[in-house]
Amino acid sequence: MTPSLDALLDLHGTTAIVTGGAKGIGKGIAARLHEAGAAVVIADLDLDAARTTTAEFEALRPGSAMAQQTDVSNAASVDAMVRDTVERFGGIDVLVNNAGIFPAVPLAEMTENDFMKVIGVNLDGVFLCTKAASTQMIKQGRGGKIINVTSIDALHPSMIGLAQYDASKHGVWGFTKNVAIELAQNQIWVNAIAPGGIVTPGVASMQSGDTIDPAVIEQMVARVPMHRFGDPDEIGRVALFLASGLSSYMTGSQIVVDGGLLLM
Ligand SMILES: NC(=O)c1ccc[n+]([C@@H]2O[C@H](COP(=O)([O-])OP(=O)(O)OC[C@H]3O[C@@H](n4cnc5c(N)ncnc54)[C@H](O)[C@@H]3O)[C@@H](O)[C@H]2O)c1
Repeated sequence: MTPSLDALLDLHGTTAIVTGGAKGIGKGIAARLHEAGAAVVIADLDLDAARTTTAEFEALRPGSAMAQQTDVSNAASVDAMVRDTVERFGGIDVLVNNAGIFPAVPLAEMTENDFMKVIGVNLDGVFLCTKAASTQMIKQGRGGKIINVTSIDALHPSMIGLAQYDASKHGVWGFTKNVAIELAQNQIWVNAIAPGGIVTPGVASMQSGDTIDPAVIEQMVARVPMHRFGDPDEIGRVALFLASGLSSYMTGSQIVVDGGLLLM
């Protein structure tokens, strides 16, 4: 018998870690997984923001969320994230590798430190979290889901100044495909979501001219066939699809969610 739609979407009894889950896209993803019934671990560098987000989820369903200060680029911090999650909720069913940074720096001004910092968070971070969480999932023996938040920049550059970012995101997409093959024997399905422009605190800081001419972002919005940037919840909905039984025959795929921008 084919399962009902309700059963396919039901995540009660599961635990999801969302890195960078305190704000922006990560919060949008955590909210949908939580609504579907998962216990969520908000693993973020920014502990205050993680606590605030966790309190919102706890108010909806007490005992269903935990804030964990995590630096995904630090192996000891990632190991603690997995250990504390297992201690609190008993296991890990879903890992969302969302934490990422995107400071724009022209190549001529980019230092080795600038380059390695982005690679460290965006690529090393995905490696460290995937290794630690999948080791736990294999031990549990009940499979799992890993969702990597890449970017349209994993496929095609969106703007000048993101060479280090594009290198990291192309790397995450390559990593996703290879690990999907290796972990399939353990029923751990590994997929990616490639967002286009999404309105988040990180993008707002670009728009306010922190690292880039705000006009560049305006030009990008103008190129989107849907004529707008997306909302974090529009990534959350796709993450729920990948975390749920709706995507039961998918591994090693990347879903582009960009309002049509890559077509331009
Ligand atoms: N917003 C977009 O337009 C867009 C487009 C494509 C891809 N993405 C990707 O989506 C992800 C989230 O982006 P966003 O726009 O929501 O970012 P954001 O800056 O708004 O939020 C990122 C969150 O990650 C946390 N974080 C940063 N470094 C961390 C670290 N080392 N360890 C743990 N947490 C850390 C931050 O504290 C913050 O809460 C990133 O991987 C980004 O590359 C974003």
